[in-house]
Amino acid sequence: MHGVERVGVIGSGQMGGGIAQVAAQNGFATVVYDLDSAALGRCKSLHDKLFNRAVEKGKMSAEQVRDAQGRLTYSDRIADIHGSDIVIEAVVEKASVKKDIFKGLAGAVSDRTILASNTSSISITDLATSVGDKADRFIGMHFFNPVPVMKLVEVINGLATSKETTERVLALSTAMGKTAVPANDRAGFVSNRILMPMINEAFYTWMEGVAEPEHIDEIMKLGMAHPMGPLRLADFIGLDTCVHIMEVMAEGLNNPRYRACPLLKQLVVAGRLGDKTKHGVFKYE
Ligand code: 3HC
Repeated sequence: MHGVERVGVIGSGQMGGGIAQVAAQNGFATVVYDLDSAALGRCKSLHDKLFNRAVEKGKMSAEQVRDAQGRLTYSDRIADIHGSDIVIEAVVEKASVKKDIFKGLAGAVSDRTILASNTSSISITDLATSVGDKADRFIGMHFFNPVPVMKLVEVINGLATSKETTERVLALSTAMGKTAVPANDRAGFVSNRILMPMINEAFYTWMEGVAEPEHIDEIMKLGMAHPMGPLRLADFIGLDTCVHIMEVMAEGLNNPRYRACPLLKQLVVAGRLGDKTKHGVFKYE
């Protein structure tokens, strides 16, 4: 059993907000922490909007929504998550920032608290060095965007992660309505190790003039039954995030075949980051 009643989420962006929503919807008392109170306000508004939509569509009753909202707390005081049975970190993909957060948490949470990172590619073994003798309770919980929709949690075991921690997190992911699949700690894990080279290759295919971006996406959507083509998906993920993950893999797997395509890097330099800047490969209203 997972032994979790209270979930703490660090970071109220797209991933953190989604994780908190799913935790609260599935019965967990949930605190979302963010330094930035404006970001917390945006997170709450998005939750309210998505809950309202769920009622309109008949997917949740008004009472279920009230209960879920009642289980959600938004806080800009980190101390409010210290009593959690698991803390899931979903902040910017920078190892130094994540390590600082975990170092602070390690001295403040209980001995049973699981420390989890939603990192998409940074080594769990490396992040776990920030928590000293709590490394056995450190683990990766890699959720997928949009979190309320995507079924998978990729559960990453670091070198020091205990069997008990893995089992608790697999059970917790199931209790959060997800399907958990374990993987070991190599840069990019399984998901991004396979996804990102496909996206990168789509940029090479475009750069070399093999086909127009719309046509590359259409071929991959219709031919492979992917819900989005690789270039649309890159915009959705963020082109800067794609470059970052490729760089983590090139270094971590020590192999130049994971270098980001020059065209992908050029778009990032130009500030075309995808959905978040309303212009990436494609333009958005
Ligand atoms: N939050 C909550 N729900 C959302 C949502 C969001 N941000 N976006 C869409 N949804 C819901 C909609 O409400 C709708 O729900 P309904 O079926 O109850 O009506 C359902 O998802 C379908 O949405 P739409 O009809 O608006 O649009 P689509 O059918 O085109 O689906 C999509 C949108 C779910 C995003 C679909 O295109 C998809 O699955 N795309 C692929 C997403 C993907 O691959 N994600 C993984 C990215 S990689 C990653 O996250 C890892 C990282 O490390 C890089």
